[in-house]
Amino acid sequence: MNDKQLIQMTIVFDNNPFNKELELDWGFSCFIKGLDKSILFDTGGNGRILLSNMEKLRIRPDDIDLAILSHAHGDHTGGLEALLEKNSKIEVWIPEFFSSSFKDSIKKKGATVVEVQNFKKICEGAYTTGVVMGWIKEQSLMLDTDKGLIVITGCAHPRITKIIATAKELLKKDIYLVFGGFHLAGFEKKEIKEIIDNFRMSEVKKVGPCHCSGDEARKIFAEEYKNDFIEIGAGKEIKIQ
Ligand SMILES: [Fe+2]
Ligand SMILES: [Fe+2]
Repeated sequence: MNDKQLIQMTIVFDNNPFNKELELDWGFSCFIKGLDKSILFDTGGNGRILLSNMEKLRIRPDDIDLAILSHAHGDHTGGLEALLEKNSKIEVWIPEFFSSSFKDSIKKKGATVVEVQNFKKICEGAYTTGVVMGWIKEQSLMLDTDKGLIVITGCAHPRITKIIATAKELLKKDIYLVFGGFHLAGFEKKEIKEIIDNFRMSEVKKVGPCHCSGDEARKIFAEEYKNDFIEIGAGKEIKIQ
């Protein structure tokens, strides 16, 4: 990967606040630019809010080459239809187990569907983990940067620790940053601490739990990771050089 490449990741949809101008709703979406392809990872739960937040962040639908959906929950897929109405040239990468009616609805908009089952390169510097098995199956996005791997998760239903182990195993590199939904709402403090121990053992340098991570887990991660905790909410921008 080009040494001087700047990768910019912008949270366009989250239920946690960051940029007060943006509308909040349950769900997650992150726009990534600076790679060969501009990627939207998940689309939030509401097309109107997605498009309105994008507009406020000066991200045009035409800027997006490729959308990836982590899993089949509405708070991650709900914005896609409205987005494809604005740009039907977007290539949509979805886990192969999505329903045929969902796939057909994408094709009807004139967009291309890429069905994902296994680990796959998306473009230079970006990969999908492939479908990670769990009680709800999911794919995560991995960016290979000079600082290490960046792993972006939707809800992390197969468990965040399993996704981290999968990413490390697939790309054989250390993880610089993990952010997105960690799915830890309702977990006991002790369980959250054990998960953080696992992060430390896996040498995850920075963390940004948002969306469905839960307030308690966000608080504990912040206390443990201190300066390496990134507070993420709608409108947050993360730049990696
Ligand atoms: Fe989910
Ligand atoms: Fe979710």
